[in-house]
Amino acid sequence: MCGIVGYIGNNQAKDILIKGLQKLEYRGYDSAGIALVNDSGVELHKEKGRIAALEDAIGKEGKGTTGIGHTRWATHGAPSRENAHPHQSISGRFTLVHNGVIENYQQLKREYLADVNMASETDTEVIVQLVESFAEKGENIDEAFRRALSLLHGSYAIALIDKEDNDTIYVGKNKSPLLVGVGDDVSVVASDAMAMLHITKEFVEIMDQEIVIVKQDGIQVKKLDGTVVERDTFTTDIDESDTEKGTYNHFMLKEIDEQPFVIRNIIQKYQDDDDGDIKLDNAIRAALNDADRLYVIAAGTSYHAGLVGKELMEKVADKPTEVHIASEFLYNEPLLSKNPLFIFISQSGETADCRGVLVNVKEKGYKSLTITNVPGSTLTREADFTLHTHAGPEIAVASTKAYTAQMAVFSILAMDGARAQGINTGFNAINELGLIANAMETLCDQKDRMEQVARDYMFDTRNCFFIGRAMDYHVVQEGALKLKEISYIQAEGFAGGELKHGTIALIEDGTPVVGVTTQEHVNANIRGNIQEVIARGANACIISTEATKEEGDNIVLPNINELLTPLISVVPLQLISYYAALHRGCDVDKPRNLAKSVTVE
Ligand code: F6R
Repeated sequence: MCGIVGYIGNNQAKDILIKGLQKLEYRGYDSAGIALVNDSGVELHKEKGRIAALEDAIGKEGKGTTGIGHTRWATHGAPSRENAHPHQSISGRFTLVHNGVIENYQQLKREYLADVNMASETDTEVIVQLVESFAEKGENIDEAFRRALSLLHGSYAIALIDKEDNDTIYVGKNKSPLLVGVGDDVSVVASDAMAMLHITKEFVEIMDQEIVIVKQDGIQVKKLDGTVVERDTFTTDIDESDTEKGTYNHFMLKEIDEQPFVIRNIIQKYQDDDDGDIKLDNAIRAALNDADRLYVIAAGTSYHAGLVGKELMEKVADKPTEVHIASEFLYNEPLLSKNPLFIFISQSGETADCRGVLVNVKEKGYKSLTITNVPGSTLTREADFTLHTHAGPEIAVASTKAYTAQMAVFSILAMDGARAQGINTGFNAINELGLIANAMETLCDQKDRMEQVARDYMFDTRNCFFIGRAMDYHVVQEGALKLKEISYIQAEGFAGGELKHGTIALIEDGTPVVGVTTQEHVNANIRGNIQEVIARGANACIISTEATKEEGDNIVLPNINELLTPLISVVPLQLISYYAALHRGCDVDKPRNLAKSVTVE
């Protein structure tokens, strides 16, 4: 969702901020803006639409070595130039960018700003007007900023500049991600370290309800009550090249192709150097062992990974497991077991729905584990334990490598759980993951074939159904999500046996139905379901394995352990979606209306 950048240094800030915003484009946005402090005051530029439109509007203007920038994903007020950030106080003295949602902004407006004419419909503008009104009453800026922040209910990451001081950016944070970076005579602010890797790799984590006074030659962290906090820097291990497309036209294709490497990376990270077996932190192993039931909480693609994770935990580690959509669990909690362990799966580690659940379960004293791709993210900081998916930055909005990495980490968790209980699973996760990486490579090498399937089934269709049974049911839900989010084809994933209970009414002449059949014990059943739709005119595409194949199947996957086939059967589905979206002229990496990091409920 919204992205924030800031810079104070010796160079002109404009290009640095624009580059930073481009690095945050992946989060999803509908308008963008920057503000620069220079000798004549503050220069403000903002535009609806893409960053390129902002750059065009700025043209040769844009002077100043201190500045802030923002990409906005609309929540309060339509996407428009007026609602785009930065927002300014009435006198123009203060300029501010904000990520998050201020729940009590109407009340604050009534109580403190009744005579202020707001220039936008946003919740954000209230913050900058509050700072000005407190500063006008004689408070210094640090105090006015802290006082304004202490009145806010909700989530925020904020950067504020003052026209009368070109060497300070005030930043504050609560529940929304924000980092401050420090370098040699330069300081930066960013929602995500990758936005400022071209300036520094040294960052400082900001905790909720803290502010940072950022100057070119150093920073000071304070609590909202003014107490100064000492905080060490950390060096991010993200490589700048990980955030570039290289020779690819799209991040999505690059990230699909990276999957074999990611799986091999996971093997390395979770393998014990001494005995070559899986190595999990003892505390995580104990928490898993002690729990009488696991509750997996996630959203979207991560939820689909959770569905596979449940199967693995139950079938391999004998652990009763439930999977819940975070936003549902948050307001409709099921009956819990006596000693639950909560597992949050989140690529970004920032998803507000998951965090809402985490806050609630922590209050009740339950233990929690986050499986995430972003170390240092909010869910990581707040959960008791973290397992990292080591997939490298995922930039395309549609999740691919993070999803397979989540399932791979689940397979490790399940194997470790089995071992801890002395269960003989008959397979070794490390060996199986090695085979999976090879199989993924084979599939990624068949792009022409995948493009042909997309051409034959998806190029002109209005809708598309995916069906599968057992493990395949989980994967077809993910396949449908991939297709709909990037190609805008209406796509749904169903349990094969469920179609004739209603959905089959939608099958017409030529309706594409993708059937996935990788599970031998239901191969005959799903093939029966495929025949049922063919009999009603469907254009059926079948994905099987060497073990389940029949003549005429469109794609045959290499044989791997059946329980782990979701890790490879999703690869053709990802590629088919990619080519369908490409052909239909869609913005593959930045599909409409979507955001990468969903930091509002
Ligand atoms: C779809 C996709 C989303 C995310 C969902 C949860 O491709 O990426 O469905 O999976 O928004 O996000 P995280 O995993 O960051 O919690």
